[in-house]
Amino acid sequence: MKNTYEAFKKNILDFTGINLSCYKEEQMKRRISTLISRKGLAGYEEYFQHIKQNTEEYDEFLSYMTINVSEFYRNPEQWDVLERDILPELISSHNGNINVWSAACSTGDEPYSLVMLLAKFIPMNRINILATDIDLKIIEKAKSGIYTANSLKSLPTEFKSKYFEMIGNDTYKISESVKSCVTFRQHDLIKDEYPQNIDLIVCRNVLIYFTEQAKNEVYNKFYNAMSDNSTLFIGSTEQVIRYRDIGFDIYKSFFYKKKK
Ligand SMILES: C[S@@+](CC[C@H](N)C(=O)[O-])C[C@H]1O[C@@H](n2cnc3c(N)ncnc32)[C@H](O)[C@@H]1O
Repeated sequence: MKNTYEAFKKNILDFTGINLSCYKEEQMKRRISTLISRKGLAGYEEYFQHIKQNTEEYDEFLSYMTINVSEFYRNPEQWDVLERDILPELISSHNGNINVWSAACSTGDEPYSLVMLLAKFIPMNRINILATDIDLKIIEKAKSGIYTANSLKSLPTEFKSKYFEMIGNDTYKISESVKSCVTFRQHDLIKDEYPQNIDLIVCRNVLIYFTEQAKNEVYNKFYNAMSDNSTLFIGSTEQVIRYRDIGFDIYKSFFYKKKK
């Protein structure tokens, strides 16, 4: 039992609070096995001891298993729908004050994109976006607001010139005005309490790694965290299969509405 994936999952849960059982098993095992063999370790037990004794190993494990890839305006067609069809009604039905949560925000590209888009509709001093992720290291990176040109490739040019300063060959810094609209916080979608009264939840490209059961639990918790007349925006390869049972109406692909 000691050197099995089951034992490793239990050790990780006890040591870090992260529940690997909620992530798709084959994918997770493959990723962890790659790390173990790359390090020339004997197996799960020895790898767990490494993680336990060394903060850098722990950080590496966390970022490897959570996959932090992100970019500004990821899948721009969906951001166009958000701008054209979702935000005008959402903002007017909440009198210009909307609570927005970017859940699993990674390097910040997503919440910062939201600020830039919202600023087309509301004054910046009224924008406050909650951005959360399980990975503290990635939150630190998000707070620094430094990006490569590649992260900005899908961002509308008007936003790039308005909100970024080039500080190196391939490096851009986001403006303080955008940064100041985002509050970053560590949050685990599996075990932590959810914020309440949210009008727009953006949660993209993380639940694809979760088991069906864990996904369903998260979507139910989102529903309970949302206000009346609110919207959930998900990733381009995702769908909420049991949306009717949860109480959502589907509105365009990738947008789900909670009615009164
Ligand atoms: C692929 S990124 C998605 C980033 C962004 N939402 C996007 O679509 O570009 C996935 C993020 O989910 C985070 N994550 C993984 N498991 C999580 C959990 N249980 N709770 C909160 N965030 C989690 C990872 O740390 C990572 O930053």
